[in-house]
Amino acid sequence: MSSNTALSAIRDRIKDPRARIGFILGSGLGHLADVVEGTAIDYADIPGFPHAGVSGHSPKLVIGTLEGVEVAILGGREHYYENGRADAMRIPLEVLSALGVDTLFATNACGSFLPEIPPGNLMLIRDHLNYSGLSPLIGEPTDRRFVNLTDAYDPDLRAALKDHAKTADIPLIEGVYAWYSGPNFETPAEIKALKILGADAVGMSTVPEIILGRFLGMRCCAVSVVTNMAAGLGNEVISHEHTKASAPVGAAKLEVIVRAFLKSVS
Ligand code: HPA
Repeated sequence: MSSNTALSAIRDRIKDPRARIGFILGSGLGHLADVVEGTAIDYADIPGFPHAGVSGHSPKLVIGTLEGVEVAILGGREHYYENGRADAMRIPLEVLSALGVDTLFATNACGSFLPEIPPGNLMLIRDHLNYSGLSPLIGEPTDRRFVNLTDAYDPDLRAALKDHAKTADIPLIEGVYAWYSGPNFETPAEIKALKILGADAVGMSTVPEIILGRFLGMRCCAVSVVTNMAAGLGNEVISHEHTKASAPVGAAKLEVIVRAFLKSVS
């Protein structure tokens, strides 16, 4: 399946679909898709898009404007743990690229290792640790697969996001995000090991999408919403229900930063 089939299904619904900035929304962070003025298309109606089956995700593509900027929002993602495919978001991201998206903004829910970033707060991803050892580019036959991931999380975008957060008085500390395959949560021993390896937070997504984003030549950035302290570091009982219930506090802060960022590039 190529992204052209997906693109023609989208063009059947939207006359001249275009976007500059693409978003991927994490668990419990779907509100952004609802505030865009534009057209929503269910993933089920776009060939090659995932049948995102995780509760807390809205499996729809929204193309429209937010704060005067043309955006494309992937309201849900397929995770590696759903079907064992690290490249599940390749066609959606190729579609975004074909629509003109040159900047990718990924969001996710995560477990924090840092007492200074407790639940309800945000972490700006500075770099990642691919603890899964997987890549969405396994099987890609061209030399383009040798993607350079130095500064994968664009320094200029990070600086801009930190400025917007500061202006809005929202703490936005940078950290390293570790990708754990899921779907089970980690053990306390694994969290201890990841901490020693240099991670500041853990989650089950985003890394393959950033690799694909860089593969497609996009400038990338990502913000994690902390929904819990990682296993062994807090008192709350970690669960998907808890993730979904905790996400809105951080999501509201994230929306303030996203809107300020979009205003600044409009
Ligand atoms: N681990 C992995 N993924 C997560 C977590 C976590 O603690 N919280 C939210 N997503």
